[in-house]
Amino acid sequence: MAFRKKTIEDVNVEGKVVLVRVDYNVPMKDGQVAEDMRIRASLPTLDYLLNNGAKKVILISHLGRPDGEVKPEFSLAPVAEKLAELLPEREVNFVDETVGDKVKEAVENMPEGSILMLENLRFSPEEEADSDDFARAIVESTGAEMFVQDGFAVIHRAHASTDAIARLLPGVAGYLVEKEVSSLEGVMVEPGHPLLVIIGGAKVEDKTPMIEKFLPIADQIAVGGKIAADGYTSDDPKIYVADKFIENEEGAKLDIDEDCAAKIVEMINDAKTIIWNGTLGMVEDPRYANSSLAIAMEMGISDATTIVGGGDTTGFVETVLAENPDLNFTLVSTGGGASLELLSGKKLPGLEVLRNS
Ligand code: 3PG
Repeated sequence: MAFRKKTIEDVNVEGKVVLVRVDYNVPMKDGQVAEDMRIRASLPTLDYLLNNGAKKVILISHLGRPDGEVKPEFSLAPVAEKLAELLPEREVNFVDETVGDKVKEAVENMPEGSILMLENLRFSPEEEADSDDFARAIVESTGAEMFVQDGFAVIHRAHASTDAIARLLPGVAGYLVEKEVSSLEGVMVEPGHPLLVIIGGAKVEDKTPMIEKFLPIADQIAVGGKIAADGYTSDDPKIYVADKFIENEEGAKLDIDEDCAAKIVEMINDAKTIIWNGTLGMVEDPRYANSSLAIAMEMGISDATTIVGGGDTTGFVETVLAENPDLNFTLVSTGGGASLELLSGKKLPGLEVLRNS
């Protein structure tokens, strides 16, 4: 499906100072990046900009939820170090402010063709308030002439760095946003049939809009995870709800049982498009990860269009991929909330505000 927004390929980036909103909200452990999928996912855009003569590339992101306060444990400094490791041929610098003289000085001093990452946007309460003043201060401090939105995972938020800023600078999509949105919208608008939607996870209220959105277009919907364990029911013959579970000693239902998993695997074999959102058991404990593992393995060898979304599911599939690099998925989405909102038919503010193609 054609992407309806302008992308970095539609504009001339040569000689420009380009501001790129990435989503480097990555899992951290002991002050280090524990998982770098979102950072790696941004590299094609950064490479494109620098290979096509962008003068300076300035990255803005949030990390965690510091609630408008400077909290050192949420600093992006270790993330900048990880990016530098992933881009050994580029110069990557970091400045511990998002606006003001220190940022101006850092931008002036950065060599042409290099990358500068600013500090966590959410250290300022104005970020989540979608403040025009904050967006203007970022633009003025950096001297940015163009805005690229490549933080797919955060485009469901209307924040200063996703919304207000794209009203001040011409905003286009990066490769990651283009790939995620095209793949996800594509399967909603013109999916190959049979279309199977597998839903798991914990919160039924989060997943009901997605079930409702897909009911008219899916051929089959399979429901597992805590939603099924908590008693989700449907009279619709298109919806299969797992009804047998693996329990712990206390009787908590922590995974769907192998017969239910086998039924879903069979559905995968018959499908031309498979969308999976939400793990089917408590995958943090390997004893309750078997059904999700079976689904991931079967999707990974299928020739169908295979889309994985949702923070927990994506993280799980990344670990399976690390051990089984031959598996192949059409899209393992970097967005949890963003992909769920898109798949539930909601508009994404950070996408809507970009220039139309
Ligand atoms: C995410 O991890 O889903 C995004 O980075 C958005 O984070 P948020 O839910 O804190 O806005």
